Amino acid sequence: MNIDFINLKAQYHAYKQDIDSEIAKVLESSAYVMGESVRELEINLARFCGCKYARAVSSGTDALLLSLLALGIKSGDEVITTPFTFIATAEMIALLGARPVFVDINERTYNIDVDKIRTHITPKTKAIIPVSLYGLPADMDSINAIAKEHDLAVIEDACQSFGGLYKGRKSCNLGSQTIRSMGVTSFFPSKPLGCYGDGGAVFSNDEKLDSQIGSLLNHGQVARYSHKYIGLNARLDSLQCAVLNVKLKHFENELKIRQELANAYNSGLKKIDSQNYRLILPYIPESYVSAYAQYSVRLSPKAPDAQYPLSQKILQDKASKRDSLLKALQEKGIPTAIHYPIPLHLQESLAYLGYKVGDFPTSEAIASEIFSLPFSAFLNKDEQDYIISTLSSELQKL
Ligand SMILES: Cc1ncc(COP(=O)(O)O)c(C=O)c1O
Repeated sequence: MNIDFINLKAQYHAYKQDIDSEIAKVLESSAYVMGESVRELEINLARFCGCKYARAVSSGTDALLLSLLALGIKSGDEVITTPFTFIATAEMIALLGARPVFVDINERTYNIDVDKIRTHITPKTKAIIPVSLYGLPADMDSINAIAKEHDLAVIEDACQSFGGLYKGRKSCNLGSQTIRSMGVTSFFPSKPLGCYGDGGAVFSNDEKLDSQIGSLLNHGQVARYSHKYIGLNARLDSLQCAVLNVKLKHFENELKIRQELANAYNSGLKKIDSQNYRLILPYIPESYVSAYAQYSVRLSPKAPDAQYPLSQKILQDKASKRDSLLKALQEKGIPTAIHYPIPLHLQESLAYLGYKVGDFPTSEAIASEIFSLPFSAFLNKDEQDYIISTLSSELQKL
């Protein structure tokens, strides 16, 4: 059996008629930039998340950059975030000349460890960017409370968690009225809600921030050819918005299927028993719902770990065991991915920050064990059963 990691083709075929006809409408309109579908999408997105404002933008990366610009983050400022995320989160902080200050993650949720944030706050700290990794919202109430105490802004990096829930509220809209807050997401094709290229959005309940984002994404323009801010071209084009408007109609249903598939993985995988290794399954705290941007599990030795920080040798051994498992799966037609093999504090582009191996032991340990299985609302039962049984037999061999 050959399985797609994310079955985007099946999704296209399921909605083809509507998608093709909405694309054709944009083509006929010739309003390829800032056409009707853009405003329509913004209204739909804000309604979906239950917030006042949404701005469609060119990518999740640009959504991060725009929100940092709107907060006035600049050279010399510090922004707290997690080292266990995609590079863009820290990269946009660094691009503005500000310093990403990393705080290690919680070992179960893989999101920023809120108990460790306070000790990293300095007079230079201006904002916190928690990441809602794999679709599971970060503990936003606790983060917002810390931000309020220290007069900081909060940007939820919800690039993976559009559709996730936290205490009944939608990810992207988990800010607080008492601080400056925004949520950003990505519509990269593989995300829970994806377009057919790059795309993203910025969410807020703050009129001033929203209108600034609206200007910044269009060269800082406030009226035609009148430019109040230094901004960028970060508009999302009409075609992508048209696609997203169609997909959004099916999104709640897809989220339901994603929950069912995650539950089926959980119950199949937890029965696997092997002599030396176990799989650690996703942990979803009570009153949280993950959008499962990824269904990620850890390959962990049954023998108890040495004390953190783990030595380079232990980390490498774990990673190479995982790599051989993933190679065996690939040979059986099961693609996997590693989100993410190198924590950000160990990335060459951020070496100037001066972090070293051992600084964020939980991120390092998880990075050596984690891998993601094929997942999308279009994964079928036969495929999933095959993945579970193959994983079971390959695990016995380790
Ligand atoms: C956590 C996180 N932040 C930011 C981004 C950047 O989004 P985009 O690829 O749309 O620029 C991603 C995308 O993978 C992400 O996963």
